Amino acid sequence: SAFRQPIMAGNWKMNPETEEEALSLASEVAERLGAETCATGGDSVDESTCTEVVVFPPFPFISKVKDAVAGAGLVVGAQNFFYEDKGAFTGSVSASMVKSTGCEYVLCGHSERRTLFADSDSNINLKVKKTLDSGMKPILCIGETQEEFEIGIKKEVCATQLSKDLYGITKEQMKDVVIAYEPVWAIGTGLVCGAEDANEIHAYCREVLTNLFDEEVAQATRIQYGGSVKPDNVDDIMAMPDIDGCLVGGASLEGEGFARIVNFK
Ligand code: G3P
Repeated sequence: SAFRQPIMAGNWKMNPETEEEALSLASEVAERLGAETCATGGDSVDESTCTEVVVFPPFPFISKVKDAVAGAGLVVGAQNFFYEDKGAFTGSVSASMVKSTGCEYVLCGHSERRTLFADSDSNINLKVKKTLDSGMKPILCIGETQEEFEIGIKKEVCATQLSKDLYGITKEQMKDVVIAYEPVWAIGTGLVCGAEDANEIHAYCREVLTNLFDEEVAQATRIQYGGSVKPDNVDDIMAMPDIDGCLVGGASLEGEGFARIVNFK
């Protein structure tokens, strides 16, 4: 199967309360990026195989975090945007705004957006398209709720989300799309989905991508796992053949621990 460049990401959510806190977290991580990450500064970094490390600060801190860590090879992304181009949408920010602050990635369809802010599959699909059209890369988050897990429909849920949220996306555009499988019951709960169980869903998602696109797209698409990833379980998770990275919430708020995660073995 194709080599897929590892991608580790920290979703800070509505945490770091001050700019100072955000900047110190970013620099704690930047200082500890290991040799396998895409940190610049050495000729030994292979840009096609190194581990990409992305952080998603709250909007007000993106620019400064970007300035502070760009030299270290850390990439910044946006947790969200509103899919309209511009205009009378008080309180919203657009794709071009986040792009202009230096974002390379955008989280689309995070379960907290789906449940707390009523992001629907059709809105998420618009955001995925807008992210790509704006020259950024979406990390499309999918995954079943606790209830869906209990009634045994996790695969159906993931398949439906993938097909609706990626509707109209071309094979060419899929090169810039990252998927994050985040079982909702494992988010922020300390209940990590077993590495083997997660891998099984990742492999299943590749079957779905084969049906929606083709085998080549399915093999090339990077799929992250998210949900209670910690320094002490990351190595087992990253050892799985269909898991290409992690999307980390709580444990991304502590610089040293997150650095240990991105420097997985
Ligand atoms: O987006 C990442 C996230 O939802 C996982 O959160 O705190 O379980 O790592 P956490």
